[in-house]
Amino acid sequence: MYDRLLKAEEERFTAEHPRCKELFERARAHLPGGVPMHWMVRWAGPFPLFVKEGEAAHFVCEDGKRHLDLCLGDTGAMTGHVPPATVAAVTEQARRGFTFMLPTEDAVWVAEEMSRRFGLPYWQTALTATDANRFAIRLARHLTGRSKILVFNYCYHGSVDETFITLQDGAARARQGNIGPPVDPSVTTKVVEFNDIPALRKALEPGDVACVLAEPAMTNIGIIHPDPGFHDALREISRQTGTLVIIDETHTICSGPGGYTRAHGLQPDMLTIGKPIGGGVPVAMYGFTKDIADRVQARIAVDESDTGGIGGTLAGNALSLAAVRATLQHVLTEEAYARMMPLAERLASDIEECIREFNLPWIVKRLGCRVEYWFRPQPPRNGGEAAAAIDAELDRYMHLFALNRGILMTPFHNMALISPQTTAEDVARHTAVFRESVESLLKVAAV
Ligand SMILES: Cc1ncc(COP(=O)(O)O)c(C=O)c1O
Repeated sequence: MYDRLLKAEEERFTAEHPRCKELFERARAHLPGGVPMHWMVRWAGPFPLFVKEGEAAHFVCEDGKRHLDLCLGDTGAMTGHVPPATVAAVTEQARRGFTFMLPTEDAVWVAEEMSRRFGLPYWQTALTATDANRFAIRLARHLTGRSKILVFNYCYHGSVDETFITLQDGAARARQGNIGPPVDPSVTTKVVEFNDIPALRKALEPGDVACVLAEPAMTNIGIIHPDPGFHDALREISRQTGTLVIIDETHTICSGPGGYTRAHGLQPDMLTIGKPIGGGVPVAMYGFTKDIADRVQARIAVDESDTGGIGGTLAGNALSLAAVRATLQHVLTEEAYARMMPLAERLASDIEECIREFNLPWIVKRLGCRVEYWFRPQPPRNGGEAAAAIDAELDRYMHLFALNRGILMTPFHNMALISPQTTAEDVARHTAVFRESVESLLKVAAV
């Protein structure tokens, strides 16, 4: 139905980005798919934009066009691009050394601040949220002596082998597209739907699950909020069955300075986070309770600590930690969230108003400073329902329409993130473009 519209948008995109197209064609000789990371082929246009530079909530592409960035590196740049305090700290640290395999004072400051924010007393570093999750899972297995983990259907926690599993007709199967799984993930992992307490209880009762790895609200198959009481039930069942709970705050840090965990008083055994905590500089952290720390100390010999499968020579490097310190101290602050939240509310209510005005069977969801619209009339309660509602063609059209008018949305779904540097004018710009895109669709539907 949108073929003609999509084709027109593709032609416009190609005509307006000759330099990006040229770079893409050159790139294909040595970068498979013309991109340095294979997901980058999934942008809505016929080729990706190549970035010249970013600043605050905008970036300029190689064709010299300025774009409002509502994707923000899929949360990696939730701080806004080049946050001045982080840039200053990283520049200063670059003069003094990048990496030593020795701690710096920043590591101490950062662990103190992470404890204050998230309520967990002990912290370790990694370079990506994927690694933070892998290491937390390893610790959970080591401490419990159990081999399995549990995740929720259509979760995403980075490229962690165990998590590429979905329910298909009620059975746990490797997720579609899973590349070279080392073993069938149903050997390592149990999977149930988010918000399904009886299924969770049934899966944990045999006592063979080391940990539940969960986003506190799902964000990667769209935003799915936990039902009231779901987290209490998860905690209760996990304690009864001796299962550890790892809460992944990598995206849900959009809920507040202490993530969803602090905003909603959750009590995880471990917490993982990556992406924006270094203002875009690669870094991640995982924290844990005193009980976990004591058990780890009792069960890991210092002489064997370099061969345990938890590591990363560059993890804990001086540059990353300088970035985290500056970002937490000056960028992702209480005041910044106080600015971001009302703007996100505004974005959501503007979209809702448009949906109402045109009587569309669509909805809007918001989690802190993250907003998303869905092409369905009811919010999905779990990943299975959410996955079934995806309209890839419509997604693609809406993304490309926005991109041609200078707005980048988060790929794979219709998500917009507000940074501390996003403005009311930016929100108004999105509202106008969203309205225009809806009108273009309705014109076609009326023909
Ligand atoms: C909730 C969550 N955890 C972990 C990750 C992995 O992050 P990275 O790819 O930076 O390792 C992601 C990435 O999207 C994520 O959404």
